[in-house]
Amino acid sequence: MAEEIKRSWYKEMSVYQVWPRSFADGNGDGIGDLKGVLEKLDYIKSLGVDAIWFSPLYKSPQKDFGYDIADYRDIQPEYGTLDDFKAVLKGAHDRGMRVIMDLVVNHTSDQHEWFKKSIEDPTSPYHDYYFWRKGKGGRRPNNWMSTFAGPAWEYNEKLDEYYLHLFAVEQPDLNHDNPRVREEVKDIMRFWLDMGVDGFREDVITFISKKEGLPSSPYYFPIGTGIENYMHGPHLDEYLLEYRHEVLDKYDCMTVGEAPMMTTKKALHHIAEGPDQQLNMMFHFEHMGADCLFYSWLKTKFNLKKLKKVYTRWQKDLYGKAWNALYIENHDQPRIINRYGSLKYRVESAKMLATMYICQSGTPFIYQGQEIGMLNMPLDDINDYVDVSTLNNYKVAKALLGEKKAMELVHYASRDNARTPVQWSNEKNAGFTTADKPWFFVNPNYTEINVASQENDPDSILNYYRRLLKFRKENDIVIYGSYEEYCKNSDELFVYGRFLDDKKMLVVNSFSENNVAFKAPEGFDLDKGKLMLSNYNNCGIVNNGFALRPYETRVYLFD
Ligand code: GLC
Ligand code: CA
Repeated sequence: MAEEIKRSWYKEMSVYQVWPRSFADGNGDGIGDLKGVLEKLDYIKSLGVDAIWFSPLYKSPQKDFGYDIADYRDIQPEYGTLDDFKAVLKGAHDRGMRVIMDLVVNHTSDQHEWFKKSIEDPTSPYHDYYFWRKGKGGRRPNNWMSTFAGPAWEYNEKLDEYYLHLFAVEQPDLNHDNPRVREEVKDIMRFWLDMGVDGFREDVITFISKKEGLPSSPYYFPIGTGIENYMHGPHLDEYLLEYRHEVLDKYDCMTVGEAPMMTTKKALHHIAEGPDQQLNMMFHFEHMGADCLFYSWLKTKFNLKKLKKVYTRWQKDLYGKAWNALYIENHDQPRIINRYGSLKYRVESAKMLATMYICQSGTPFIYQGQEIGMLNMPLDDINDYVDVSTLNNYKVAKALLGEKKAMELVHYASRDNARTPVQWSNEKNAGFTTADKPWFFVNPNYTEINVASQENDPDSILNYYRRLLKFRKENDIVIYGSYEEYCKNSDELFVYGRFLDDKKMLVVNSFSENNVAFKAPEGFDLDKGKLMLSNYNNCGIVNNGFALRPYETRVYLFD
């Protein structure tokens, strides 16, 4: 065991993400819910994960599908009640799984009591819970643009003031500079921790401190202008430490912060272990930029070297100092096979991508449907899309590039791609609901891609995920080993080693649709290694090398 790494349950666990609306419908109204989750707990457990992260379950008008919260202490009625949640919590705990809640405190819904009161009575303390500002000579208080496109300010006639919303108009930003707001946040955390939840995924947490005076930006982008004034804002450290010391430290819990545009250097500032550590882990976005600039709407050609550089940087820079959070899909990202994998080799590439990221050092997160290789679902009509950011980005793309290109981008980049109902079986509506119509389109490929058909197939993606997670759990080297990259110049192969005490592991991944010659790096004698995982049969070895088949992955262990 490497001396410098402290063991911890949050480092050893793997996590399954549930986006409740599309997971499983338990009461037959077409919308996923907690009853559905309860019925699927054995399934989730069977994957070999140790925790469930729930995207927001709270009461919400669903303008951003739960990321617009109207009541932090209650469950969205469509999903059930607090008692239903408690049953799920107990069911998960009984099965040895932890539960992580989404903590969305950069903003609330405009239907939250605080926001309503901030308008009703501008002299009330709630007014300063938000960023209300007078306009400047009939213009907005500054030139910031929302992350979802359009200006970041909305005018309220009654008050003759604007409020700040970095996301949708219905998501006013909370003012964490106000100590009362921070007390509220701490109370919300305690409410869920006291109930027994095991931690938080903290939504865009690095945006909570805005630069004093909210200055205009000298730059202009149609989306996100002004971001330099609130990304890692001046009081971020202070507020995160306050939340940690006054609340989190008192519980056996974990945190993972969502952190757009994060670098390893900045991440270490927030998550390096020690007295000043603010969060346990961070979801950065750098590895999601191998086929785009910053985010998938600025699409480029997939570039493996770019991907490898990012991964190696995070593996190396954090090792022994901080802990990685590993993911390749979530509710904000299009399906990974469409991006980094291959439709022609769907099954092979799904398994390779799983191995490629889960065998790195860090805590793996798996998004619902990823474990069966679900794919993007292009819809023909823009009006069929429901995600607010898709519709906004489409408008911008259409204005700049025209309708056809904009639609192509929607098909590639829309968050709705990952939000179609989970495909449980080849029955009607993929077994997601008994209602005539699910709330959103089921991908028509469900007849082929579904859980039931993969359950009993030992070669399925689903069963591969199970083997992979079991392998990780049983081998400390996968969790705690150090990392070294090989074949760095290859455009087709991603090869790395892991090292712990006198053990070694070699992970070989092909990103090519063709055969690619591979020679084991120096120090690895494949004849002496044990092949632990692969997505092909007949893995014979010739002269310490072989031809990797399309999207082949292999993991060798050397004792
Ligand atoms: C995060 C969430 C995303 C949401 C946004 C605003 O990025 O993951 O789904 O739209 O924050 O809350
Ligand atoms: Ca339902």
